[in-house]
Amino acid sequence: MTTIVHISDLHISKDAFDEEVFLKAVSEINNLKPDMIILTGDITNSGYYREYQRAIEYLALFEAPLFAIPGNHDSRNLGYQSFEELVGERSWKLTKDDEFTVIGLDSSAHDENRGHIGIPQQLWMEHQLDECVVNNRFSIVALHHHVISIPDTGRERNVLSDAGDILKTLTTHEVDLVLSGHKHVPNIWKINETIVVNAGSLSSNKLRGKIGNSYNVYNIYEDSMELFLHNVGGEKILFGKYRRKS
Ligand SMILES: [Fe+2]
Ligand SMILES: [Fe+2]
Repeated sequence: MTTIVHISDLHISKDAFDEEVFLKAVSEINNLKPDMIILTGDITNSGYYREYQRAIEYLALFEAPLFAIPGNHDSRNLGYQSFEELVGERSWKLTKDDEFTVIGLDSSAHDENRGHIGIPQQLWMEHQLDECVVNNRFSIVALHHHVISIPDTGRERNVLSDAGDILKTLTTHEVDLVLSGHKHVPNIWKINETIVVNAGSLSSNKLRGKIGNSYNVYNIYEDSMELFLHNVGGEKILFGKYRRKS
């Protein structure tokens, strides 16, 4: 079994970040001993250099390997440069034991809230996904912006502007998991063979209604996968269970 923890929307800053919740989540996640943590953006609230400096200290508290992509908040105020300097590349690919491939995409635009992948990144992703199909690898694509609208989030504004083209690439390659954040609301959609999962906000106080801080845990077995929603300091809910395609 491989365990992946999906966190998102930390919003590390003076005003939008709840340190107590964050530290509680770190201890819960470290206790799970996951194989990796995927962070789908909005690490900082305004992309300020000093927010990134604080953020990397907080991220170092996680014991498992952590892979992050930027969100719209991270690319503000030259934050996309600070991300590269202090966190790492803004888009990347990793392969684990020749069984899993995770592709991280940068859907952010400088000082804009909208999400966009663009043709060069899409073509690069298609190439990587072709390899996954040929080698029969479990494939995960992570990006900050949602590719399909999320319930309970009001008027749609920031769905990926090239969502149709990206969804076509994801579904024709039968990507196993698509991971996003941005809306601070957890959700699952299934389209054809692809599970599209949104994580809530791990530690931001920018929350809707009674939806609290949470993270997702994915247990991937040889023939199935279980997706759990963990409320920080609260209950753990089975969010979805699916057979893995052969
Ligand atoms: Fe956010
Ligand atoms: Fe966002």
